[in-house]
Amino acid sequence: MKYLYAFLTAMLLVCALCACASEGKVEIVQSDPEESTAQETIGETDESDRDMTDGGSEILVAYFSATGNTKAVAEKAAATMGADLFEIVPAVPYTDADLNYGDDNSRTTAEQNDDNARPEISGTVENMDSYDTVFIGYPIWWGQAPKIMYTFLESYDFSGKTIVPFCTSGSSPIGSSAENMKELAEGADWLDGQRFSGGASEDEVSGWVDSLGIK
Ligand SMILES: Cc1cc2nc3c(=O)[nH]c(=O)nc-3n(C[C@H](O)[C@H](O)[C@H](O)COP(=O)(O)O)c2cc1C
Repeated sequence: MKYLYAFLTAMLLVCALCACASEGKVEIVQSDPEESTAQETIGETDESDRDMTDGGSEILVAYFSATGNTKAVAEKAAATMGADLFEIVPAVPYTDADLNYGDDNSRTTAEQNDDNARPEISGTVENMDSYDTVFIGYPIWWGQAPKIMYTFLESYDFSGKTIVPFCTSGSSPIGSSAENMKELAEGADWLDGQRFSGGASEDEVSGWVDSLGIK
């Protein structure tokens, strides 16, 4: 009897492990606005490592981040508001050489100098219509937003929505970076943008979000 019991317990454990494995990599998560650190799996993943939540919020935080600084700010902002999160992932990832701003011939230098550059994005926001407010986060590249943000803004109809720009940078202010994107999303109500340093604290980010009064 004791062995039968042990055998049945082992079988149950094997079945549970198989069920988990068949669900694939955990990636789409739902954040709880009451408990911003709680994240619960609500779906399956595709093969990319996109940072994305879809908890049915009317606020979306969409961001591009090449080295993780903007990602950290975006995640803090989304957690504060219980907002959904969408990472703007380049179809062709940026290599270290691409990001070398000391190289006049690097990919980023070429893109930032080309008015028509629109780097392709991998994946789309499925339900953009359901969002009233879209935060857009990006790093400052040569004083401006990376051109992939232009691709993002041209990919959807933002009329009637509120857009809230924010950025991270080494030292530059947000400057004209948001202003220069406004024409790409006509009909949207653009709020003033906010610049953060790479290591912005949770308090800094949530203080800014609170000040907007759109939580
Ligand atoms: C190509 C390139 C250009 C940059 N240009 C500027 C700049 O003009 N001013 C500045 O303060 N920082 C500049 N930086 C630094 C980034 O803005 C900063 O490290 C930012 O936090 C990176 O964000 P991320 O980690 O989300 O990519 C540049 C970085 C790169 C890769």
